[in-house]
Amino acid sequence: MALHFYLSILSIAALVLCTSADYSSVNFSYIGPNGPEKWGSLSPAYAACSNGKVQSPVDLVYTDIVINNQLESLDRNYVPTNATLVNNQFNIGVHFEGKVGDIHINGKNYSLKQLHWHAPAEHRAHGRTHDAELHLVHLTEDNNNIAVVASLYNLGDPDPLISKIEDKLNELEVQSRVGNKNARIALGTFDVEEINKKIHRYYRYVGSLTTPPCTEGVIWNIIGKVRTLSKKQLELLKAPLSVDFFHNARPLQPLNGRKIEMYHYHPNQKQGTKTP
Ligand SMILES: *[C@@H]1O[C@H](CO)[C@@H](O)[C@H](O)[C@H]1NC(C)=O
Ligand SMILES: *[C@@H]1O[C@H](CO)[C@@H](O)[C@H](O)[C@H]1NC(C)=O
Ligand SMILES: *[C@@H]1O[C@H](CO)[C@@H](O)[C@H](O)[C@H]1NC(C)=O
Repeated sequence: MALHFYLSILSIAALVLCTSADYSSVNFSYIGPNGPEKWGSLSPAYAACSNGKVQSPVDLVYTDIVINNQLESLDRNYVPTNATLVNNQFNIGVHFEGKVGDIHINGKNYSLKQLHWHAPAEHRAHGRTHDAELHLVHLTEDNNNIAVVASLYNLGDPDPLISKIEDKLNELEVQSRVGNKNARIALGTFDVEEINKKIHRYYRYVGSLTTPPCTEGVIWNIIGKVRTLSKKQLELLKAPLSVDFFHNARPLQPLNGRKIEMYHYHPNQKQGTKTP
């Protein structure tokens, strides 16, 4: 009874919060009349979703993959940083306030700003659809260039990164159930050292954001090694979302002649050395 009363108060508070511009801003969906085929017509700003020629995600098919020995390693050194767990309504993510760390691509530094999950995976690799995908979104200092590092997941052992936020994901679900669809929960100092591990193989191509406005020119880096997450963790990542977004993977987009480059680590190749 007491809990019910408490939840009612929360709902009223949440209803008031719902009138914020943030809440009404998500008008695309993964099913129904505002599904992926319609994204381009929902707003002139979303035109690339239907007119774009270099869109994401794509199928990483062996025949379209070329080894490029000039690619640099994607070594990262992310440091613990103050972070917030965010219900973006179309997915669940973590936003960082301070400097987490950079990746270096073609002489530019891209700084990690946020990460989020999609389920099932958006990129197809190894001839199959994986169960989930993590996107680490990096921006250049002027915010004009985007590079994403993506990890694919299969169901299996729990993912240590998600394990750290399971309680907070539960909290996000409670908030969602009382109507606070775009809740934010402080995580304090969030340590992403889990994802600092050396990358032995990754796939690089130029594509787009996989959600509106489908902005092109995004440098994608899909890590070859597949991670695992537990069934419970997969459920936790979906629970705070409305049913329209339980499946939040955009369909595969045509490569339109793009090649996918592959980086392969060679122990006897000095880091940053260009092989002739
Ligand atoms: C969908 O949202 C975008 C971004 O907020 C907005 O520009 C557009 O007008 C909206 N479209 C419709 C049909 O509501
Ligand atoms: C961390 O982020 C929270 C939520 O945005 C904020 O209230 C808090 O002051 C931040 N702490 C530090 C040490 O910056
Ligand atoms: C990129 O960051 C490194 C340190 O991580 C720094 O030495 C370098 O000058 C930066 N490059 C640019 C182009 O800002």
